[in-house]
Amino acid sequence: MSKVPPLRLGVNVDHIATLRNARGGARPDPVRAAKLAIEAGADGITAHLREDRRHIRDDDMARLKAEISKPLNFEMAATADMLRISLATKPHAVCLVPERREELTTEGGLDVVGQHNALAPFIATLSDAGIRVSLFIAAEPRQIEMAAKLKAPVIEIHTGAWCDAVMDGHAAKAAAEWERIVTGARLARSAGLEVHAGHGLDYATAERIAALPDIAELNIGYYMVGEALFVGLAETVRTMRAAMDRGRARAETAT
Ligand code: PXP
Repeated sequence: MSKVPPLRLGVNVDHIATLRNARGGARPDPVRAAKLAIEAGADGITAHLREDRRHIRDDDMARLKAEISKPLNFEMAATADMLRISLATKPHAVCLVPERREELTTEGGLDVVGQHNALAPFIATLSDAGIRVSLFIAAEPRQIEMAAKLKAPVIEIHTGAWCDAVMDGHAAKAAAEWERIVTGARLARSAGLEVHAGHGLDYATAERIAALPDIAELNIGYYMVGEALFVGLAETVRTMRAAMDRGRARAETAT
C-alpha cells in the first residue's frame, strides 16, 4: 500500500453563482454544479458566503448543505453574523478567511498572530458544535505556530502569491513562494495540523503542489469554472443547434 495519503479535491462553486447573479435569475445553479462536481470526482464542495453576498447567497448555502452528498466547506469571515449562519447550517467544515469589501478575491491570509484574541472564541464555538475549523493563512512560520496554539485542527495555505508569480513568469519570486509553501506545509504537519492549500491553482500548479505529501486537500474554483466554459461550450452549441433544427422541422411539416 502507498505510504502517501490521498489528496482530496474540494471544488469551489462561488463563480457559478457569480454568473447566475449577472442576470439575477436562477441559472446557472451552483447546487447543480456542486452535484456535477461530486459525480466527476470532487471529494467536497467549498462555498464562500461573503458579507456583500456577491456570489453565494444564504439559500445557496442552505441548499448545498441539504442536497450534496459530500462534505460542505463553508468559507466565511470571523463575524458574529457568519458565526450564527454557520452554526445554523452545520457544515462539515468552516474555513475562516479575511474579508475586505473592496477586494476582488481573498487577497491575503488571515493574520492569526495579530487577531488571536478575536479568533479564539470563533474556533472554540465552531469546534464545540462539531464543525472542523480551518484557518486560511500564508505559509509563515509565525502564523502556523499560532494556528496550532489556537487549536485549529486545519490550516489552508494561501497559494495565490505563488500562482501569480508562476503566471507572471517571475521565476525568482515563484521559487521563493514555492519554498515557503513546502517549508510551511512541513512545519504545520509536524505541529499536528492537517494542511490544505488553495487560491489561484490551475492544472499545472495543482499538479506541482499535489506532489507534496504534507498536503491533504486542495480547494480550487475559479480556474475550473473558466475552463468548464471551453470544455462545455461546443457541446452546448451543438445541443442548441439540434433544438433549433427540431423546432424548424416542425414548422416545415406544418406548412
Ligand atoms: N481557498 C480559499 C480559502 C479561498 O478563499 C478560495 C477563493 O474563494 C479558494 C480556495 C479557491 O480559489 P480559486 O477560486 O482561485 O481557485
